[in-house]
Amino acid sequence: MQLLKYLQAQGLGSRKQCQWLIDNDCVAVNGEIRNDGKSEIDPAEVRTLHIDGEAVQAVPQPYFYIVLNKPADYETSHKPRDYPSVFSLFPDHMRNIDMQAVGRLDAGTTGVLLITNDGQFNHRMTSPKYKAAKLYRADLKHPADETFCQSLKNGVLLHDDDETVQAAEVVLENPHTLLLTITEGKYHQVKRMVAYCGKEVVDLQRLTMGTLVLDENLKRGEWRRLTQEELEALLASVA
Ligand code: URA
Repeated sequence: MQLLKYLQAQGLGSRKQCQWLIDNDCVAVNGEIRNDGKSEIDPAEVRTLHIDGEAVQAVPQPYFYIVLNKPADYETSHKPRDYPSVFSLFPDHMRNIDMQAVGRLDAGTTGVLLITNDGQFNHRMTSPKYKAAKLYRADLKHPADETFCQSLKNGVLLHDDDETVQAAEVVLENPHTLLLTITEGKYHQVKRMVAYCGKEVVDLQRLTMGTLVLDENLKRGEWRRLTQEELEALLASVA
């Protein structure tokens, strides 16, 4: 990719700002000053990146794919209203990167939240067309039974929709806990489906997104890059 695009993808500023850095000999890649924005760069070959003499921890590829174990009381938004943003959980040098969440989780919901700058991947993972399955553990205020699970599978009509939405799978882990799989990502979908069938969700956790399973070692608030295998499996599932 071109050096100018590479710097932008690293979150180092607008096109104009990055061009200014290049024109003013501020950019050194692998110890060498680079002053041609159109010159080609292989992101995988970048061992060091210095801006005006300061080392920058380069994101190793033009696209990145991150899994965050979202804690409660964070909003999936760049402009949060009531709680801090999930993006505030990342270090300062990543703040300027175009980070987008792959679907939203409500402020109180915890668990798997993918974050990427790959718009096409994001679209595929969230588009109902590709039916990426999401598994949730929902704790209920009042106990449920098999009839309740069947109602969720039969489908419910959410009030702003003209089509019913069905749970792809529902398992009662215990009378107060449902394991529920859906393939869409509508606003408050799980809570609204459960409410439609007459119960209330008191705690909600997303355990999987497509083929990606919540990692027991990843504590709430922690994040990591997807491994190549995890990424390939996800890409294959929405190809
Ligand atoms: N369904 C909900 O109700 N909330 C979420 O955060 C995700 C799915």
